[in-house]
Amino acid sequence: MSGSYGKYIGNELKYVTQILDSENPENKKAPFVGKLEKAFASRFGCKYAIAHNSGTSTLHTCLAAAGVGAGDEVISPAQTVIMNSFATLHQNAIPVYADIDPDTFNIDPKSIEKNITPRTKAIIAVHMHGLMADMDPIMSLAKKHGLYVIEDSAQCVLGKYKGALAGSIGHMASFSFENKKHLSAGEGGMVITNEEGLATVIRKTGGLGYKTLSAGQSLRQLLPSDFQDPHYKRHDTLGWNYRMNELTAAVALAQLERVDFLVARRQKVAGLYREALEGCDWVIPQKVPPGFENSYWTFTVKYEGQAAYGIKWKDFYDLYKKNGGDGFYGGLSVAYGEPVMQNKPFLNRYLPDDKVYKDAFNYKNGSCPVAEDIQPKMMQFKTNYRNLEIAKQKTEILRRTIKEIQGK
Ligand SMILES: Cc1ncc(COP(=O)(O)O)c(C=O)c1O
Repeated sequence: MSGSYGKYIGNELKYVTQILDSENPENKKAPFVGKLEKAFASRFGCKYAIAHNSGTSTLHTCLAAAGVGAGDEVISPAQTVIMNSFATLHQNAIPVYADIDPDTFNIDPKSIEKNITPRTKAIIAVHMHGLMADMDPIMSLAKKHGLYVIEDSAQCVLGKYKGALAGSIGHMASFSFENKKHLSAGEGGMVITNEEGLATVIRKTGGLGYKTLSAGQSLRQLLPSDFQDPHYKRHDTLGWNYRMNELTAAVALAQLERVDFLVARRQKVAGLYREALEGCDWVIPQKVPPGFENSYWTFTVKYEGQAAYGIKWKDFYDLYKKNGGDGFYGGLSVAYGEPVMQNKPFLNRYLPDDKVYKDAFNYKNGSCPVAEDIQPKMMQFKTNYRNLEIAKQKTEILRRTIKEIQGK
């Protein structure tokens, strides 16, 4: 596990080269999407894996499969990517935000409970920064109120909760293969589920509603004499084209073959950050409660240096960079703080003029106080160093930057 390595040093090139061989008859059967789905289902221990073109389209088909429609409410954490809200809005449904836990930075089940109404249809449990949400109370609430739970595992690959893998607890789970994720194929996504009914709807709505699609099969070989017939009817479901292409599947499969290494490397780098922060009580890492295993998409901390030493977030950022550290990200804005959720340009476009919506979308500052307090203090340090020596240098620079401030 030492030294450096390239990003695509497995079978990526070999598989892509195979796909680009236009004369290879095997390629007519779109082999890599099928192989990727099979390998993904096997690695994550589930019955169905359905490849998509992103980790946003996955959320959309999951909500469609959950039967989320006009006027329904979908609960997601206040501090997360906007894609959770967008998928909800594209179903003409209403995003409702639950507050987050101040230590794990993940959705707080107590806040979910407070936000459940007769209109609530689904919960998107987002596993932020690599750590799973507290799934037991979430699943109990879902059972009690008859809700679907979608695990958004875009940032959490091989994270664990009481021994269970991320993606294996909710009714459906979504993954992303966007360029910066644990498994990277440029863009791409995967849904996993054990329920055949859900898998069928997901496959069909993501695959243009072709009637021949089924839970476990992206392509069915029909006889040309059937589908070339002018009377042949193809579509029985309303759908989008969210299909993954073969080139992406070829890269994603090769990445999946190395998933254990790719996750372990991020965890190792996170260990270096932890060592650098030893004895410092004002740069506080995301808490990993007993029974949880963080897959460390990023090493995320709560920065309290302003209260402790009067050093603002941006001053710390500048100092760390001046000392030779890499830039790091701040926490994403709370979703309802984004201009799109404040100005609501979607209201006339997607939603009927219905009393259901009269009091919806009334997002006010202060509605999720923990998320609003913590978000500006967050720092997300990169864990995807391919060269461990560089990771050691950068984390050492973090240690020195902290000592420099403390010595002042
Ligand atoms: C938690 C979360 N959900 C969903 C997405 C969307 O994934 P994609 O970029 O593949 O559409 C991302 C990606 O940034 C994410 O971090």
